[in-house]
Amino acid sequence: MSIQDYITSNKDRFLEELIDILKIPSISADPAYSDDVHRMAEATKDHLLKAGADKAIVMETPGYPIVYGEKIIDTSLPTVLVYGHYDVQPADPLDLWDSPAFEPVIKKTDIHPDGAIFARGACDDKGQFYMHVKAFETMMNTDSLPCNVKFIIEGEEEVGSENLDGFLEENKELLAADVILVSDTGIIANDIPSITTGLRGLSYVEVEVTGPNRDLHSGLYGGGVPNPINILCEMIASLKNEHQHITVEGFYDDVDELSAEERAEMAKAPFSEEGFKKSIDIGDVEGETGYSVPERLSIRPTLDVNGIWGGYTGEGAKTVIASKAYAKISMRLVPNQDSTKITKLFQEHFERIAPKSVKVKVTPHHGGEAAVTPVDSIAYQAVSKAMEETYGKKPVPVRSGGSIPIVASFEKILGLKTVLFGFGLDSDAIHSPNEHYGLFNYYKGIETIPLFYKYFVEMKK
Ligand code: BES
Ligand code: MN
Ligand code: MN
Repeated sequence: MSIQDYITSNKDRFLEELIDILKIPSISADPAYSDDVHRMAEATKDHLLKAGADKAIVMETPGYPIVYGEKIIDTSLPTVLVYGHYDVQPADPLDLWDSPAFEPVIKKTDIHPDGAIFARGACDDKGQFYMHVKAFETMMNTDSLPCNVKFIIEGEEEVGSENLDGFLEENKELLAADVILVSDTGIIANDIPSITTGLRGLSYVEVEVTGPNRDLHSGLYGGGVPNPINILCEMIASLKNEHQHITVEGFYDDVDELSAEERAEMAKAPFSEEGFKKSIDIGDVEGETGYSVPERLSIRPTLDVNGIWGGYTGEGAKTVIASKAYAKISMRLVPNQDSTKITKLFQEHFERIAPKSVKVKVTPHHGGEAAVTPVDSIAYQAVSKAMEETYGKKPVPVRSGGSIPIVASFEKILGLKTVLFGFGLDSDAIHSPNEHYGLFNYYKGIETIPLFYKYFVEMKK
């Protein structure tokens, strides 16, 4: 049977199986879902075995387990290592979902006229890693797997992959491969295929500002004491100047600036500012002076408040000056910036700018390094050729603004390059309510992946 015929005759089952795993709320951030995360690891292992893996095991780590699977057909042939994650983001805010996050439904949208599957994890990353499992099954059952394949599907990506580096260190031999494939990114549009060639790093901190030692009556004390919420807002406002340039001393020291040629090349990727504004209903774009919107979104570092709280936020009014105010702040980093160094620079800066009326505390959360992936490798060429065949258009290289810190770890620890082979769309609402994944994208992935194997092995010879 041909690959295409196999996919066509198993289409419905491929979708039903995805629906089943989307029902498991494998939220790594919330300990209340620990059993579900473990259940999802077991399900992933079972699916790998059913698809034809010789071996699939749930490997313990100090956190959630990593599922490893392999099919070794001939050790003299190349080996492809597929990485994905089976954990998902929390579904909050629940009331903004049109249907429950873990009860998948299929609905048509303007962008997905063939339908999309709505559920937390549909695109990030269950729908995407599962394409690899189904593509593998397809190759196994059509006698077309041309090389060895290994899978590592982890359960802590959404909380910073803290145990993955250790796992890579301890299992270098087991994970030996020629290339890593990661489907956890996207394409520009369903009629504009693209390949992600860069990711940003991340430094994430939580800040706490303490004023008086207890909450105070805002009439009796207001006007004469430091209000930590006001002060936190002023401090945050000062973190960027009028050019939206980040004011943390030393922040830009190590930033890799792109050459004029590289920027000109980047500008060729299609981007509609009007369409962008419309897609998220904003009156205007914002950002650093001197850079285009696509540049601000990918090759420039950022600083954003992700959450801010303090004082009274319940019903009605309460006249109070809070003792404490808090914020969570993320900085997206670009190649050559070091997340540990940036976190330290931020901490020093934030302590320096605090007025002496308050105490501040900066707590670092997880971080990760940026990555750029080569476009001249055999693996990139093979992905490009595979996509050109299924989309009828040569994919364009694009730098993404998102982060997948393990891509830098794969290179550092295993010495392996990654190809980012994602099929999602920015409009798929990953991490947001009503996350979805197009059926077109799901099946296109399953169809394109076996072609990658074919061309990769051919070109390797
Ligand atoms: N799959 C995303 C990252 C992504 C999405 C990159 C789309 C490029 C395009 C991944 O699951 C993710 O959400 N990463 C986190 C970082 C992590 C350290 C929590 C992110 O980017 O916020
Ligand atoms: Mn992801
Ligand atoms: Mn994610």
